[in-house]
Amino acid sequence: MPSVFIKTYGCQMNERDSEAVAAQLVAKGYSLAKTESAADVILLNTCSVRDLAEQKAMNKMKNLVGTAKKDRPNQILGYMGCMAQSRGKELIEKLPDVDLVIGTQKFHRTADYLDEILSGKREKIVDVAAEEKSEATIREHLLNGSAKTSVSAFVSIMQGCNQYCTFCIVPYTRGEERSRTIPDIVNECRELVARGVREITLLGQIVTSFGKRDLPALDGKSAFVQLLDAVHEIEGLERIRFTSPHPKGYGDDLAEAYARLPKLCESAHIPLQSGSDRLLKLMHRGYTRERFLTIIKKLRAAKPGIGITTDIIVGFPGETEEDFEQTLSLCREVEFDNAYIFKYSPRRDTPAADMPDQVPQEIREERNHRLLDLINEIAARKYDDFIGRQVQILVEGPSKKNAARYTGRTRCNRIVLFDGSSRHQGQLMDVKIERTGSFTLYGDPAVVNL
Ligand code: 5AD
Repeated sequence: MPSVFIKTYGCQMNERDSEAVAAQLVAKGYSLAKTESAADVILLNTCSVRDLAEQKAMNKMKNLVGTAKKDRPNQILGYMGCMAQSRGKELIEKLPDVDLVIGTQKFHRTADYLDEILSGKREKIVDVAAEEKSEATIREHLLNGSAKTSVSAFVSIMQGCNQYCTFCIVPYTRGEERSRTIPDIVNECRELVARGVREITLLGQIVTSFGKRDLPALDGKSAFVQLLDAVHEIEGLERIRFTSPHPKGYGDDLAEAYARLPKLCESAHIPLQSGSDRLLKLMHRGYTRERFLTIIKKLRAAKPGIGITTDIIVGFPGETEEDFEQTLSLCREVEFDNAYIFKYSPRRDTPAADMPDQVPQEIREERNHRLLDLINEIAARKYDDFIGRQVQILVEGPSKKNAARYTGRTRCNRIVLFDGSSRHQGQLMDVKIERTGSFTLYGDPAVVNL
């Protein structure tokens, strides 16, 4: 059977989609190639959230086409995912040697389409149509004994987004919000736990909107909190995380869930985007600076050590120096554990791309630097606070950079490196933090709970 190499760009949702496609192909008899040059099929799973991500995948494909023509004339090349969805057949018009374009609702058809192309039944396939119930098709897992995947797994709970933030392409690439059912998700989680998984991260473009249209609130609990309750009951599961939420989803029920559910890790990635009310409105975010601060206070009251990270966009159209200073001051006030900063990138079909007062590139760069300096300064201070403390980690496996070191994560989602061995893998254990590196803690397994 042919071999496949999948390269993934972008977010954890894309990683998860690639894993599900790989597992689906392996189940059909395909093998996974270790390198691009050894593969019969190369698939690029793409990201559209910023222009740079699209350019990277397109340049990569150009190079692949070049080498395939020279050295591997029978190699099949395909795009999947967000850019495939938003650009469709245009991608083949640009590079006629591309064979396959699979949109975000069609990942589960990959094996069928490859069979058709490999058997010569069809020459080119582009499928970016909507498909009912496709949200329930991302469910196969690899879990082939590889270090990390057998300890911690991602489970897709919903697809799409109806928020329509004015900068964001996701509603157009991922479609309308559609959620799986709670029993379907719980079954998948149970199977994973039976196979040795101890930590599950629930995934979706806007997880806090999970089940909103299908499941009414029950005892003041939103559908998403009902799902957290249901997953929490799975015996043998130790830790639950989720990403990405929207601030508007942090009602009291979710804040209380942190205090109530011991398996729900005290960690939250809450995209802020801007600290200026004027910009938040232009972005169509649906909350104010004050509301954001209230959420953070509530979460810290529920779990004082909670790790809080965020996403921020600099240089959104019309952003003035005063607006940007509002973002800086909010970051000083909240003291995020880390933040991902993005320079605004105009996206096709989004309202912000046509807004007046686009911010010059040099100013976007300059604000990016200033904010990064502040975030790093705060983060370093917060990392240093860990020195001397004992923390619980879930050990994922050997560190990629240094195989003598093992790596795990604290409940608040910080990476800890320590001198470990394979017997530690998959264990929850306590370590004492001795020193810090850049966005890493170094621990000593002082007390080992085996
Ligand atoms: N330009 C820059 N950053 C963007 N993001 C989303 N759309 C854009 C854009 N057009 C950022 C947001 C989001 C993260 C995943 O990517 O901060 O939270």
